[in-house]
Amino acid sequence: MTNITNESSSDLSALIGGENVSLVQFLLDLGISLSSESNPDRLLEKIVDESITLTNADGCTLYLSDDSGSLHFTISKNISMKICLGGVTGDPVSMPPVPRDPSFVSAYAAINKKIVNVPDVYKSTEFDFTGPKKYDEENCYCTKSMLVAPLTNYEGEVLGVMQLVNAKDPETNQVIAFDKKFDTLVHSLASFAAVAISNVRMIGEIRRRVAMLREANLDAIYSLAMAAEAKDDDTGDHVRRIQLYSIALAKKAGFTDEKADEIGYSSIMHDVGKISVPDMVLKKPGKLTDGEFDVMKAHTEAGSKILPATSFFVVARDIARHHHERWDGNGYPDGLKRGKIPIEARIVAITDVFDALTHKRAYKKAWTFEEAITEMKRCSGTHFDPRLMEIWEELYTSGELNRIFDSWHDS
Ligand SMILES: [Fe+2]
Ligand SMILES: [Fe+2]
Repeated sequence: MTNITNESSSDLSALIGGENVSLVQFLLDLGISLSSESNPDRLLEKIVDESITLTNADGCTLYLSDDSGSLHFTISKNISMKICLGGVTGDPVSMPPVPRDPSFVSAYAAINKKIVNVPDVYKSTEFDFTGPKKYDEENCYCTKSMLVAPLTNYEGEVLGVMQLVNAKDPETNQVIAFDKKFDTLVHSLASFAAVAISNVRMIGEIRRRVAMLREANLDAIYSLAMAAEAKDDDTGDHVRRIQLYSIALAKKAGFTDEKADEIGYSSIMHDVGKISVPDMVLKKPGKLTDGEFDVMKAHTEAGSKILPATSFFVVARDIARHHHERWDGNGYPDGLKRGKIPIEARIVAITDVFDALTHKRAYKKAWTFEEAITEMKRCSGTHFDPRLMEIWEELYTSGELNRIFDSWHDS
């Protein structure tokens, strides 16, 4: 006869003692293992595998609920049939959802938050097992026993249902009913699983929101940078190329991908202070007077002040302020020398000059890469950080600079 256990009646402590100590240990290890999994697909697969191991079942299927309470097939494994469907490693499968109708055993378990133990599906009259019977017919399988548990998280929300089929006698391997003790153990396992799924979803949501914020920030950054660049009679391609060049140089210099990415998006804002430079100075075709040059130089300090004083812009502020410093201390605005110049600014000093040299301006033709590299090497150790210049030359020799140039060439 079908056994239905109210979740609240579960009492794990009653199982502690004798042979069950190892089961409790298994559950504790399982809790740790599930909570350390951050990949949602791998987590679901782990839940299925561990459930099969714990109960010596032949198969396990997980359904996850949608907002309407319908249950969607997510992953299924069956040992004797050697099949895995859904999940990350299984064959893709499309199945209609199980409606929120308590005549279906999985929906019943989810709606009532109860564990259902069915010793023999073919003798049960309480639920509609048309689906499993049809499956048996089509696949020459024989579903007999079934244990269905809701996946309920700490807030009492049912995230889905776990459906185990065909418990096997460990000695004879014959299909038997699920032992009553599994009602409690599977309840605990399902709770661990639900909490782990909730946590992974929460982490995913946080990551998604951080990514959205970052995207929004980057959009704003591009707009700001473009506004400054437009004043300088250029297209946005200059900053895009500098971003890619700076990422490449930072990576080759040994920075992590994450740090290189930060240097990249920060480099976009290097000349943002030009927005405060009057057009008569910025667009003057001839040579600037000393006074005008002082106004022009002020774009570095202006840039670092325009950018918000938040952690997201720390590197950008350094780059905006120091990208015209020189290795020998003869740059501006602070006359910093060598290692006193933030390395991010030393990187952008190279990528900015290189891009300016290799593009046409109103007052000059575009230099070839070779001409630019030769001239910049001449300034290595005076204008540019010599170690970074060596790496920059390696990027040129390997063809990496050409690849970047080609991807953002504006003419
Ligand atoms: Fe600048
Ligand atoms: Fe620039």
